[in-house]
Amino acid sequence: MQTLINENKTWIDDLWQKIDNKLSMVAKRSYEKLPYSAQNGIHDDYSSPDKVSWWTNGFWGGMLWLMYKETGKEIYKSAAEHSGELLDYALDNYDGLHHDVGFMWHLTAGADYRITGNKKARNTNLFAAATLASRYNIEGGFIRAWNDEGSEGWTIIDCLMNIPLLYWASKELEDDRFTKIAMKHADMALRDHIRADGSVNHIVEHDTKTGDVIKIYGGQGYDENSCWSRGLAWAVYGSIISYKHTGKKDYLDAAIKTANYFIANCIQTEYLPLLDFRQPKEPLYYDSTAGLCTACGLLEISKCVSEQEGKMYTDAAIKIIRATAEKCCNLDEDVDYIVGMGSERYPFKDADMKGIHIPIIYGDFFMVEALLKLRGNDFLIW
Ligand code: GLY
Repeated sequence: MQTLINENKTWIDDLWQKIDNKLSMVAKRSYEKLPYSAQNGIHDDYSSPDKVSWWTNGFWGGMLWLMYKETGKEIYKSAAEHSGELLDYALDNYDGLHHDVGFMWHLTAGADYRITGNKKARNTNLFAAATLASRYNIEGGFIRAWNDEGSEGWTIIDCLMNIPLLYWASKELEDDRFTKIAMKHADMALRDHIRADGSVNHIVEHDTKTGDVIKIYGGQGYDENSCWSRGLAWAVYGSIISYKHTGKKDYLDAAIKTANYFIANCIQTEYLPLLDFRQPKEPLYYDSTAGLCTACGLLEISKCVSEQEGKMYTDAAIKIIRATAEKCCNLDEDVDYIVGMGSERYPFKDADMKGIHIPIIYGDFFMVEALLKLRGNDFLIW
């Protein structure tokens, strides 16, 4: 792993320096915002009462905490703390809370506490963990997604990335209740979401009394038989994180299986993944965020397997990061976003097209996280 990283050191350090220079300015410009995307290079803002509960609102603060961890620069800490204050408004509206409280607070309050020891942030993150745990369906054995009427039995593959909050709460409180819920949910995901060939179902509807599968939905992918690439990315990274927190071998096997499927498909489009690996040949839609999230997962997998196998995952991760940097990144310091070509969902309507090939904040987050890993920073924010 290290040899491969050393061979790529020049462009890694060069890209890192440009991103650090740029973000130290963006942190000031977007100080009062919770950015989701950008229009004409300027961050939008999701901190208003009608948007503050949006699931992506922890990525900006999480990225700033990662930047602070790596550089020690005060501007990153100050902007990260302020983003936590903006996000706290979401705690005033219980009905607005959902399964994504892990994405929202574990990357912000959770990172704050783990990096600075801030006790208020610890408290906030424990409330988030209690909220997530309370969504567990005891008879069905799963954590419910969303709050809409009729979605009582729904689970989504994305939620593998929320349960690290529960592993943390168990360790913090020395109480394994939270980890037990997380592992029940992860076991369900391995059984009902991850298919035998390593592709994934995005949404699964379960019988709320037995947990039995009732129906599969395509969700943000092309259809119920396809494979939404960001869903697969959540499976790769989420599975290896569950392995790291629990040591359960099934999670490592799941990470490897899904990673192999991702890599086999991603190679075919020169390491910039399609939005859905089974979408029609035309039109061609891509999603850079799926690649970067998977790259982070691959770098973690490579630490958990033999040196020889690990090289293959590190090599694929580096190729994805490099392809994304070359094809999708904007390093102009006057432009607020870094990574373009993210896609929200497979577009079936003209209205959906506005979420295609755009900058999305988690693309920037995973680019920064991936570069930290390549630079040897072993802080696992998840
Ligand atoms: N978790 C929702 C998404 O990945 O778009």
